[in-house]
Amino acid sequence: MLISKKLNTGLNDQVGHELFASHQYVAIATYFEQAALLTLAKHYYAQGLEERDHAMRLVKLILDSDGDLKIPAVPAPKMGFKSSLEAVQLALTSELRVTAQINALQDQAIADKDHLSRNALEWFVNEQREEVTSASTLVQMVKRAGESGMFFVEQFLKGGGLAEADGGEGGEGAA
Ligand SMILES: [Fe+2]
Ligand SMILES: [Fe+2]
Repeated sequence: MLISKKLNTGLNDQVGHELFASHQYVAIATYFEQAALLTLAKHYYAQGLEERDHAMRLVKLILDSDGDLKIPAVPAPKMGFKSSLEAVQLALTSELRVTAQINALQDQAIADKDHLSRNALEWFVNEQREEVTSASTLVQMVKRAGESGMFFVEQFLKGGGLAEADGGEGGEGAA
């Protein structure tokens, strides 16, 4: 086995956290779909797929490291929101939590002097920078627009506004 038991456990847990994030994004997307804010819905459905990809990337890392894969139980996501702001804020809170989780995994890989895992986790570190930036930009846009101005947030997303915010690598339609 190429990874420590401790990192193996952490990676298994993270598979669960990424799947949970995926389900939470689907729940946020359905909130926007029901509110007829279809560009926001599309954005969050895409985020949901991305999180699933993150989980699969970790599964591959565990298997390639000859680790012991255990996919944990995933709690139910929060369904339904009082406002658009509450929904986009939950997305930001969840990305900040995942960033802390990834940092803890990277700390473990560094403590283990495990360069293989450290290198693989570097991708997640960079990904979190983009994810937090986009989520935080959306919170600011929704605050500025207000609930009655959500049309403007839709236009911002349609115009590729998020790609601007995170340096052109993310945003609508980008994986
Ligand atoms: Fe993720
Ligand atoms: Fe994410």
